[in-house]
Amino acid sequence: MDLQLTEQRINELKSLLNQYGYEYYVLDKPTVPDLEYDRLMQELLKLEEKYPELKTSDSPSERVGGPILDLFEKVEHRTPMLSLGNAFNDGDLRDFDRRVRQAVGDTVSYVCELKIDGLAVSLRYENGLFLQGATRGDGTIGEDITANLKTIKSIPLRLRENVSIEVRGEAFMPKRSFEALNRVKEENGEEPFANPRNAAAGSLRQLDPKMAASRNLDVFLYGIGDIGGLGVTSHGEGLDYLDALGFKTNKERRKCSGIDDVIEYVNSWVEKRPHLPYEIDGIVIKVDSLEQQEQLGTTAKSPRWAIAYKFPAEEVVTTLLDIELSVGRTGVVTPTAILVPVKVAGTTVQRASLHNEDLIREKDLKIGDKVVIKKAGDIIPEVVNVLAEERTGTERDFYMPTHCPECESELVRLDGEVALRCINPKCPAQIREGLIHFVSRDAMNIEGLGERVISQLFTEKLIADVADLYKLTREQLLALERMGEKSVSNLLKAIEASKSNSLEKLLFGLGIRHVGAKAAKTLAQEFGSMDHLAAATKEQLISINEIGEKMADSIVTFFEQEEVSSLIKELSSYGVNMDYKGAKPVLAAESDSIFAGKTIVLTGKLEKLSRNEAKEKIEALGGNVAGSVSKKTHLVIAGEEAGSKLSKAQELGIEVWDEEKLLVELNK
Ligand code: IVH
Repeated sequence: MDLQLTEQRINELKSLLNQYGYEYYVLDKPTVPDLEYDRLMQELLKLEEKYPELKTSDSPSERVGGPILDLFEKVEHRTPMLSLGNAFNDGDLRDFDRRVRQAVGDTVSYVCELKIDGLAVSLRYENGLFLQGATRGDGTIGEDITANLKTIKSIPLRLRENVSIEVRGEAFMPKRSFEALNRVKEENGEEPFANPRNAAAGSLRQLDPKMAASRNLDVFLYGIGDIGGLGVTSHGEGLDYLDALGFKTNKERRKCSGIDDVIEYVNSWVEKRPHLPYEIDGIVIKVDSLEQQEQLGTTAKSPRWAIAYKFPAEEVVTTLLDIELSVGRTGVVTPTAILVPVKVAGTTVQRASLHNEDLIREKDLKIGDKVVIKKAGDIIPEVVNVLAEERTGTERDFYMPTHCPECESELVRLDGEVALRCINPKCPAQIREGLIHFVSRDAMNIEGLGERVISQLFTEKLIADVADLYKLTREQLLALERMGEKSVSNLLKAIEASKSNSLEKLLFGLGIRHVGAKAAKTLAQEFGSMDHLAAATKEQLISINEIGEKMADSIVTFFEQEEVSSLIKELSSYGVNMDYKGAKPVLAAESDSIFAGKTIVLTGKLEKLSRNEAKEKIEALGGNVAGSVSKKTHLVIAGEEAGSKLSKAQELGIEVWDEEKLLVELNK
């Protein structure tokens, strides 16, 4: 066959297979037998193998999964992927509706959708071709999982129009595929996935796309990244447009003309939910009109025009076998319920924190009781109440000990606290927990150093404080249980890399009382270096907006300790960075930029900068970027297709710039 004819046949096969795939996986209406599909796919695979130069990115053969990757690249979302506020009952839904109507008037329609329990993804198409797919990540930066997403057969590789668009949706694993996968895992003696959401996330975060291809994932698209300029005026029309482009959307959506209608829809799904072939964890309610959406705007985290109704958590009965005690990093002794293992909302639960003695009294818990448990926020196991009527008389009261279960020093109840504490600074449990905290993600983020390894290192006396981590040798690590060459060299690399962390990570890791991750960042930004912070007075600390008296006292006391200054010296001598590495916030008064002290609103689509970049640059020059236009706004930057924010700015007579002018001023 000559090349031209081959190309023609390849194109024919591609378009047939894409059409059949669309009918089967998106419309759920197959038009040809599976065998026919497989035959055409085999023919295509053979031709592409022979003529690799004719293989294109929209070939259905991509579905089988490409080569194994080394790592996932980071992707910055062009518009942030926000999350949703929650509603737990009718009252919360009515409050949401009231807030909406206060802002946009009484004529509001909503679109209700199923809240699919999977993993949020963003899909980017250029001229109709699938170019890049990413996870949500932290909402601003996600991971490029294009190769894995291509294996999801309901994700079109080519759209029915040659448009450039970014769409968002939920990738998930249907219940049946989940059950089948776990059966295989169990047969192979592997740990099964806790629930379909974890299974979907685990599959898409595999570096081997062939593995993802074997997992039978699916997707529902529910939104468009930047919906302006497409000629649609409502969310519902947006979804219809997604259908027309060949995307799979969820057909259970319903337009509701008011909140009563919404509540009826929500309640109808409580009954129907178990019969769906996929898991949902709630209902998403969205204001339909795009103009009203824009009027409502967003908070830093979530849009004001949408809310997620969460179904009530599943409750189950089990037995309280015992109450165990653990000593935390700050010496607090926490009682934990040990339960007869029971399945709740997809995972097996056998422990639940009981927080403190008062809570045990309040709930009147006795060892041996039948108790009702649930997962708060669907994640954290919690004892709801005790079934006192089921007592047999064999149950035992529980009393908190008077001495630390680890070091036996006397426990104290500090003023005003319900918690009992061990105040021995040398208590091994506290030191071990402090080490675990030091390496944790928001602190020094040393991957590979989990609880298990830290506990081993500590018991073997290889580490006594955080500085010792930087003295660990390859030989010492190799001698530990379950540590091979590869994990040791990765671990040493991770320890080395942590030395160059920015100051806030170290500050948080040191575990100064009352200093959380956010306060650590503020302190690092404000003082710039460990030395400056250590020398700060209480007054200097309090003068910072977010630092209160209690925190200031705790910081001063912390740095007064001799052990602290020698620990810091030691860390520094191993090369641990002691400086803040991010951009220093510019105080408006110190900046002579045109943006200093001004409140600026960004609207419409920017071409050269992402919204986030523009925001960061303006803030670095002392400006303040706000989400909505008001009389207090000094300046509006309007990109392409700017909507109601621009009109409002014009109404209020506020200065408006285009992106070009912004760039010129930013670069001055
Ligand atoms: S809309 C800006 N619609 O729920 C709001 N989200 O926090 C974007 N989810 O992880 C979300 N089904 O991925 C929306 N029909 C639906 C959804 C849905 C599931 C997920 C979403 C995100 C979380 C919301």
